[in-house]
Amino acid sequence: MALLITSTGKNLDSWVAALKEAGPEVDILTLEQDVPHERILMALAWNHPPGIFRTLPALKCISSMGAGVDHLLSDPDIPEDVAVVRIVDPMLARDMFEFVLALILGHNRRLPLFAQQQSRGLWKKKRYRRIRDTRVGVMGTGAIGHHVCMGLSALGFSVSGWGRSASREGQQPPYRRHAGAGGLASFLRDTDILVCLLPLTPETRGILNRELLSQLPRGGVLINLGRGPHVVEQDLIALLDEGHLQAASLDVFDPEPLPEGHPFWKHPGVQLTPHIASLTDPASVAPQVIENYRRLRRGEPLLHRVDRRHGY
Ligand code: GLV
Repeated sequence: MALLITSTGKNLDSWVAALKEAGPEVDILTLEQDVPHERILMALAWNHPPGIFRTLPALKCISSMGAGVDHLLSDPDIPEDVAVVRIVDPMLARDMFEFVLALILGHNRRLPLFAQQQSRGLWKKKRYRRIRDTRVGVMGTGAIGHHVCMGLSALGFSVSGWGRSASREGQQPPYRRHAGAGGLASFLRDTDILVCLLPLTPETRGILNRELLSQLPRGGVLINLGRGPHVVEQDLIALLDEGHLQAASLDVFDPEPLPEGHPFWKHPGVQLTPHIASLTDPASVAPQVIENYRRLRRGEPLLHRVDRRHGY
């Protein structure tokens, strides 16, 4: 049996090397090879060719190459009995925290504004906001969101987290927790900088719309590191134009790459990055991919299995 990397548009050398190192006994294949379709037990996927999973009769599991699985769950060609697993990796969470911190500090110190002033040759001071006066609200308090909330709390930010459901096992964390539709209004009212780290599901698609964003205090900032379709683009642009929102940092788009001529490219309130908040490090995650392959072979429960009904 074999593990097939079904990713397209990426150089896979570092993935193949890391997987071979973590699982020397595992047959690792890519789509560039002559694929023995009936021998593929597990697939590792990002930007997979449409329809590929239907051509793999022995397929038992598909692992995302990243934390998100929306690219897999939206594919109608994944048979019900094929397990979907995702990557849960401390390095991904740490990298996300560092990026969130960089963006928040940039907004507090008005760096996007000063970059624009520089391009116009303009010398104009603007007051800044200190960490201890900054209220950050994080939407999505799963593995990555929880880590981000903990890190920001430790630095002295005032942090709230919002999630679909209330309980998180273990002790009460050092940040405020809000849950469900009922917890949203109080969460937003006390948030200067809103960070979206939600998974993309039917419930969260379009969640960053006028109704939600206008509940932020005037001058609020949106940082979207979840998925492009979380944002209702025309609502965001209108709230920036009206001055209700001061700025938006966007790392994810629909589609990607962001098309030429899209209004986000030139909007003075938008700071844009090419989906680089947190990149999967093959060497860091190969052991968990191989562990799942071995578990499949032994018929044991898989790590980080996705609940396909909830979408994450
Ligand atoms: C990146 O977007 C990921 O899902 O890991």
